[in-house]
Amino acid sequence: MEQINLGKSDIRVSRMGFGCWGLSGAYGSIAAGEAERLLQAVADTGINFLDTADVYGGGANEELLGRALAGRRQEVVLATKFGYVGDEMGGLRIDGRPEYVVAACEASLRRLRTDYLDLYYLHRVDKTVPITETVGAMQRLKDQGKIRAIGLSEAGIATLQKAGRTGRIDVLQSEYSLATPDLQDRVLPFLEEQGITLAAFSPLGRGMLTALASGLQPGSDDYRRLIPRFQEPYLSHNIRIAEQMQDMAQQLGTSLAILSLGWILASGNHIPIPGTRKLDHLRENCRALELRLSPDIVQQLASLARQFRGARHNPANAAFYDVD
Ligand SMILES: NC(=O)c1ccc[n+]([C@@H]2O[C@H](COP(=O)([O-])OP(=O)(O)OC[C@H]3O[C@@H](n4cnc5c(N)ncnc54)[C@H](OP(=O)(O)O)[C@@H]3O)[C@@H](O)[C@H]2O)c1
Repeated sequence: MEQINLGKSDIRVSRMGFGCWGLSGAYGSIAAGEAERLLQAVADTGINFLDTADVYGGGANEELLGRALAGRRQEVVLATKFGYVGDEMGGLRIDGRPEYVVAACEASLRRLRTDYLDLYYLHRVDKTVPITETVGAMQRLKDQGKIRAIGLSEAGIATLQKAGRTGRIDVLQSEYSLATPDLQDRVLPFLEEQGITLAAFSPLGRGMLTALASGLQPGSDDYRRLIPRFQEPYLSHNIRIAEQMQDMAQQLGTSLAILSLGWILASGNHIPIPGTRKLDHLRENCRALELRLSPDIVQQLASLARQFRGARHNPANAAFYDVD
């Protein structure tokens, strides 16, 4: 599989990554043993860039990776995040204090059964701590060899600029998809200019571009029930937009999942990190790497993308976004 460098680092990652959150219950349950099998299958495809966070499943997602990847550590580029404290389904706060950075890193290393992290992200900016202090602490971890690269998640341009004073930021992880194209106008040109890689999270719109286009509603154990765009009055409108995209996919002889990932790949050196609990979906998503889209199709899709409505997050979580 084609590989590229993460930012200005020498870390080589596959052109598409894998988001592990869904393997710990974000989008409903998964059968025992299935997640481990899926992670083995991911590594077998040549995808080497795995994304987790300490808050996913309250640490269970990192433990899962630690178990599943025992013996394969050198084959993968492990990215994890810190900063969220509390319950991921509600009641969260952010901690970016330097002493917390050190403690969180030690805990992630233990759960992941490794002595270094390839990429360590601040999950959300702590607005009560200067970003230079948080990133300064991350840089010290890098100097000690505990992490190889520094990333921020959902940070705005001004924060990225300030952060760069105490540590080089190689990756920004933010939501970017045909359902959420907001980064296109200002952030993507900035990243390109600075040599920062975008890891595009929720590249399938958290399923908005796949399952919900065929009429599914989030279940009671599904995180999406908390998100306004998955609720009325927005949901019906958004499904209609997704259906138009699905028609385009059909005309191109592909699926909307493949088209969505192909659109991200076509719009720059970005790395989509889709998640799935199913082997056939994993294989399908990999086919996006072979898709070639004309500039005209890329543009038509971008126009449709701007028509999605409704906040992409519940108000409590939206308060953590760092927009500038
Ligand atoms: N930094 C952050 O704050 C942040 C926030 C959210 C996510 N993330 C990261 O980004 C990763 C991916 O995002 P995500 O999981 O939220 O959303 P996503 O990848 O956009 O969508 C996942 C959903 O799409 C479905 N899906 C995947 N492939 C499919 C296919 N080929 N056909 C039909 N349905 C398909 C999955 O269902 P099935 O399981 O049924 O396939 C799941 O419901 C996460 O795992 C996490 O690592 C980071």
